[in-house]
Amino acid sequence: MSEKILVCVAWPYANGLLHVGHVAGCYLPADIFTRYQRMKGNEVLMVSGSDMHGTPVTLKAEQEGKTPAEVAMFYHQDFTEAWKKLGISFDLYTHTETANHAQVTQDVFKKLLEKGYLYTNTVLQAYCPSCERFLPDRYVEGTCPFCKAKGARGDQCDVCGKPLNANELIEPRCRQCGTAPVFKETEHFFLKLSAFNDQLLEWVKDQVHWRQNVINFTTHYLQEGLKDRAITRDIEWGVHIPVQGFEHKRIYVWFDAVIGYLSASKEWAASTGDPEKWRAFWQADSKSYYFIGKDNIPFHTIIWPAMLMGYGGLNLPYDVPANEFLTVENQKGSKSHNWAVWITDYLASYDPDPLRFILSINMPETSDTDFSWREFVRRNNDELVATYGNLAHRVLTLTYRNFEGKVPAPANLDETDLLLTKQCEEVFKEVDECLSRCQFKLAIGKAMTLAHEANRYLDGKAPWKAIKTDRQAAANSLYTAIGAISALKTMFSPFLPFSAQKLHTYLGFAGTIEDARWEIHIPQPGQKLEEPQALFTKLDDEIIEKETQKLGH
Ligand code: MF3
Ligand code: ZN
Repeated sequence: MSEKILVCVAWPYANGLLHVGHVAGCYLPADIFTRYQRMKGNEVLMVSGSDMHGTPVTLKAEQEGKTPAEVAMFYHQDFTEAWKKLGISFDLYTHTETANHAQVTQDVFKKLLEKGYLYTNTVLQAYCPSCERFLPDRYVEGTCPFCKAKGARGDQCDVCGKPLNANELIEPRCRQCGTAPVFKETEHFFLKLSAFNDQLLEWVKDQVHWRQNVINFTTHYLQEGLKDRAITRDIEWGVHIPVQGFEHKRIYVWFDAVIGYLSASKEWAASTGDPEKWRAFWQADSKSYYFIGKDNIPFHTIIWPAMLMGYGGLNLPYDVPANEFLTVENQKGSKSHNWAVWITDYLASYDPDPLRFILSINMPETSDTDFSWREFVRRNNDELVATYGNLAHRVLTLTYRNFEGKVPAPANLDETDLLLTKQCEEVFKEVDECLSRCQFKLAIGKAMTLAHEANRYLDGKAPWKAIKTDRQAAANSLYTAIGAISALKTMFSPFLPFSAQKLHTYLGFAGTIEDARWEIHIPQPGQKLEEPQALFTKLDDEIIEKETQKLGH
């Protein structure tokens, strides 16, 4: 039976280029999951967009002497192109500067206000006497009151991951000029998070299918007790507040960003010609998955669920498979030190599948993992090219040349033939289970092990020799091996869609891999093959040195 699945992916700030950490953190796992679910025949809606508001964007605009809108649109274009080239298959990738998004955000705001979950209060806001303005959270830096790390920002501490208010920072400083801010009174709207504490604790108790780190973080956070949080700011850039007297303030970027999942779903529905279609993914028995990095956990397991509980009538997240971090050459990524592998740079020189491969087989699911160029080249050459690519290429060229470009007919298959086919079926089931549980690293590892098995089988059978002495024996092993690479094609296709499409065509199947079903497609004897080409390209060791040298400069 077909299920409805909503795949929500974190909205990247439109203030800087994408790097491999973004891709490994949420876009790739979300895409693998979506492709898998679509092949299963489920109805999937995968949405995200560029997070354009707030100080991440205004800070960047000030640095560059541009307007926030110019900066945001520039990165939005760049992201949109990157998704296409990387094969991240969104149903809709939008942004938060649309009229629809403003309207949906204001609707949520008004409903929460009506129900008494929003209230106004005067707060002390950091004000820089030398810059003569209120300082938004990100413009204030200081020491984290919880973990005592230096360099915490007024919105969040990156070391312990806790959201903060600027006035909680120890020794706060204006980020622009270093002056100690004074705190002045200003009026803001607050979200009554404290009202949801018990309800959230009850709800989280039932989420036994969540990853352990997500459960731990969330439960711990709730047990400390939730504080109400200001959801408006003294800033000019963002969604307008639908209340008189607040014309010069805006809705806080995090409040509107999470609503993006809902506004994007509505925008998508409108684009299909059926504006009510979003309901199928937000009401009734649809399941929603939120793919995010671990620094975004509290916003997706606490604040957004609280907003949804307050709003009423919409589904809470079903799963929040948050990933850990990806280091580059064993160092934490850094924009300012150019310590990152930028997606645009990568795509200018290499194919998408090798990156998708290394980030999948090394995905930071349960602990931080590392990207290194040495590993990239090694895994490309030893695993993608040598194990999977060559297997497919050897089998297909031998068959193509010796059996008139057609799948040979088997006769009296022996035990080893049948064993390989059985292993394919077993591994297929295991990969299926892993994918349904969002265990991507484990899933691709199992598929790779099967590719090793198939190589061993082929070496044992040596059909390139048998073809001269026992044509039927060669036909049997090539037929069996073709079944194995076809099984591998399906298993790898959510991870490596570009090469899977090629293999799908070489095997003589019509249509696209996106339209193929999640099952082992056994090529029929007599099925016509396409002349095969190599699936992957070997990379020169020299690129390790070349690429590593770009880091940090
Ligand atoms: N822009 C935020 C970040 O990069 C993520 C926002 S996810 C959201 O950390 F969808 F909830 F907005
Ligand atoms: Zn200042």
